[in-house]
Amino acid sequence: MTTSSAPGKIILFGEHAVVYRRPALAVPVTQVQATATVSATSRTGIWIEAPDIGLASELSRLAPVHPLAAVINRVFSALPSPPSPSRSTPAGLPKGEGCIITITSTIPIASGLGSGAAVSVAIIRALSAFLGQPLPDERVSALAYEVEKLHHGTPSGIDNTVVTYAKPVYFVKFPSPPGRGVGGEVETFRVGAPFTIVIGDTGLSAPTKESVSDVRTLWEADQPRWEKVFNEVGDIVQKARRAIETGDIPALGPLMDENHKSLQEMTVSCLELDRLVEAARKSGALGAKLSGGGRGGNMIALVRPDKAEPVAVALMSAGAKRTLITTVKQTSDVA
Ligand code: MEV
Repeated sequence: MTTSSAPGKIILFGEHAVVYRRPALAVPVTQVQATATVSATSRTGIWIEAPDIGLASELSRLAPVHPLAAVINRVFSALPSPPSPSRSTPAGLPKGEGCIITITSTIPIASGLGSGAAVSVAIIRALSAFLGQPLPDERVSALAYEVEKLHHGTPSGIDNTVVTYAKPVYFVKFPSPPGRGVGGEVETFRVGAPFTIVIGDTGLSAPTKESVSDVRTLWEADQPRWEKVFNEVGDIVQKARRAIETGDIPALGPLMDENHKSLQEMTVSCLELDRLVEAARKSGALGAKLSGGGRGGNMIALVRPDKAEPVAVALMSAGAKRTLITTVKQTSDVA
């Protein structure tokens, strides 16, 4: 039996503009995880069990575009000597035997916390290890990126990257991603002083594909205007990276506020997100913004540690469905 887990993530700065090759900063959130377990069974076939979404099926009965089928099929075709899923005899098992892939996740779906990427990464690692051919991180991230492309249209690659490496990342998308590595240039960055983030979930499910595609429509209609906005976001990201590296945490607050304004201009905020962002600021946050695709999902607020609880309470009173408090530290951990 093999098991693998992958964390959730938050984008600290630069979402959406990152799709247009501006940099972005993201960190893992380890309190929430997707987990995949693969075990042998005497039942013929490759069985998928995802109790969280009420799914129990043999692989061949799922449409090839089903997110879980897409990941599993990609793992089989990525391995040097791929066992044939249609013969349902994974490598290393006696012919005729099969395996069960069980997937569970505590990461809310379509909320900007990277649930899709985390599920993909957990499956890729657990299944490739089960088949006796564990894949290196770069391949894991690249395969997860392939699946992101299938479901998100034109993803930047930041979600699969931060979830695979489980470290703070500074990310810039490649100019021509097809077939190239993880889809972008990846650096990790130093966290000069730990800082605390409160995450507030609107509870509204918000597919990233739609907000990304709406921003593209805006960009196509007026490229000079949006290139300027994306440049401004790029500047915010550079300033934020410097502030994080030098431990100048208070400087991050206004940068978050500024980034939220740009995201409002891109039309990817919504009433519920704005309400939570405002509630966080009023209850003592140093700054706040939406995080991820927007139009629902999650927002983040930068707080002094002693303000984390009061801000979380204020978010719940303002309509948040749940909150998480996370500390970004120099080690890759987000505890
Ligand atoms: C989603 O987590 C972040 C977006 O920038 C989309 C992407 O980068 O692929 C909205």
